[in-house]
Amino acid sequence: MRPLFPFPRLSLVALVGAGACVGLGALLAACGPSGEAAPAGPLASATAAASDSVGTALNPATPLSLPAQVGQKMFFDATLSGSGRMACATCHDPKHAYAPSNDLSVQLGGPAMNLAGTRAVPSLRYKDATPPYADLLDNPDGVSVPGPGGGFAWDGRAATLAEQAGLPLLDPREMANASRADVVKQLRAAPYAALFRQAFGAQVFDDVDRAFAAAGQALQAFQLEDVSFHPYSSKYDLYIGNKIGGVLTPAEARGLKVFADPKGGNCASCHYQGAGLNGSTAIFTDFSYEAIGVPRNPAVPANADPSFIDLGLCGPARTDHPPTPGNRFCGMFKSPTLRNVASRRSFFHNGVFHSLEQTIRFYNTRDTMPELWYPTVGGQAKASPDPDFPTYGLVTTQYIGGQVRKFDDLPARFVGNIDTQMPLDGRPAHSKPPMSEQDIADLICFLNTLNDKDVQPAEAPRPGACRS
Ligand code: HEC
Ligand code: HEC
Repeated sequence: MRPLFPFPRLSLVALVGAGACVGLGALLAACGPSGEAAPAGPLASATAAASDSVGTALNPATPLSLPAQVGQKMFFDATLSGSGRMACATCHDPKHAYAPSNDLSVQLGGPAMNLAGTRAVPSLRYKDATPPYADLLDNPDGVSVPGPGGGFAWDGRAATLAEQAGLPLLDPREMANASRADVVKQLRAAPYAALFRQAFGAQVFDDVDRAFAAAGQALQAFQLEDVSFHPYSSKYDLYIGNKIGGVLTPAEARGLKVFADPKGGNCASCHYQGAGLNGSTAIFTDFSYEAIGVPRNPAVPANADPSFIDLGLCGPARTDHPPTPGNRFCGMFKSPTLRNVASRRSFFHNGVFHSLEQTIRFYNTRDTMPELWYPTVGGQAKASPDPDFPTYGLVTTQYIGGQVRKFDDLPARFVGNIDTQMPLDGRPAHSKPPMSEQDIADLICFLNTLNDKDVQPAEAPRPGACRS
């Protein structure tokens, strides 16, 4: 079914024509080490300019500004929480690309550290180029029609990193400070209070709102300035920069092709932008919002209440797009960056999946085998499933008869908002899935090249798997 209000994204590969080089490589470098022709035209020069400026803008030798130094101290300061036991770094672990180190779908916080959140914790890497949210944001690829995009959190409700920082500090399930005044009281007593005054003015603590805003500015400055938030140290960066060590193996190169192929994985149409913003190279999201029908996750305690439904842009966390019938925004979440995605251990806004492979298999068979991902109502469980019934889904019981409740975390009135681009093109159940087993294996190999060099993959690819 066509969504009522689709936001089609033209594939970048379509722009340069198929086959010139391997997929995206064609857009970003002179085709990398394989040495095929560079693309011509405006995109080519825009991308060249973008990659030239990398390194100068992000010079690790540049000392942090005073506000960023304050932000660094705050980021690791557990006294800035109601429990006294939770810092930003508790959920955003710098050793894990500023994402959680565990595989919980949602993290625990609150005054006694026993209240679960409702959403998976994103990595904080590569957020510096995120524009503020807009209902009609121009797509960075310059060709797709404008649609909802940008902003921080899964629903874009914070316009800046500074604004975002205020949310966890006051969220009762996260750092759980009772008020802004409580946060400021802790800051005033912190060992770095003098540095705070030096950065923001001697009188800054006299006014709670001013001091709280300064705290947000400090955390923003740290995230923008510190190179650990955007190291660009992945194998993919070496490949794009034509540097030593940047030769993709045949499997990785095929995976890139699957990623970019509009008739294959088509991942690039949402998880890629052409010319980098702010002089960065590709950050593997176009900041756009789509509804892709992620299954409901019973491991999120809030989901025990059937009336709790996270509709992304339609709230409940966000309040400016109420879930009135026909609202085209309901069910949409931000396409996250796929940099360091192979180091994650929970996937999608509700953390329903725990391996990259399972996540990709969901993309591949959401439509062709929905019974693997959504509950079946009625029907009879088979005593022993067919030997060829896949076991990688969320549902491992095979049913005879019954009805699959597809999109079980989206009220029926919003199912029309589901995106219909490849690979989630709404093809009939039991038809051929868009990607082959080989495509899936290759795609995982390619996605592993997006891990920064200090980051451990959550699952090491099987020995030798990505070589040939
Ligand atoms: C209890 C765990 C937890 C703590 C502690 C925490 N966060 Fe987060 N963070 C999250 C979750 C969950 C989200 C997603 C929120 C949403 O979508 O509503 C998030 C989102 C973010 C984002 C947006 C990223 C994006 O992809 O748009 C930023 C930036 C951020 N946090 C910064 C911070 C800072 C700074 C602190 C400390 C002041 C902090 N966080 C503390 C759990 C946490
Ligand atoms: C139509 C746009 C679109 C396409 C095409 C698309 N994605 Fe996504 N992707 C999204 C959105 C939106 C989300 C977040 C959905 C949510 O959490 O509800 C997402 C989330 C993800 C995540 C979870 C990341 C995290 O941090 O939790 C992974 C992994 C992912 N996509 C990989 C892929 C791959 C691989 C492909 C190609 C096979 C692909 N996507 C194609 C829009 C898209």
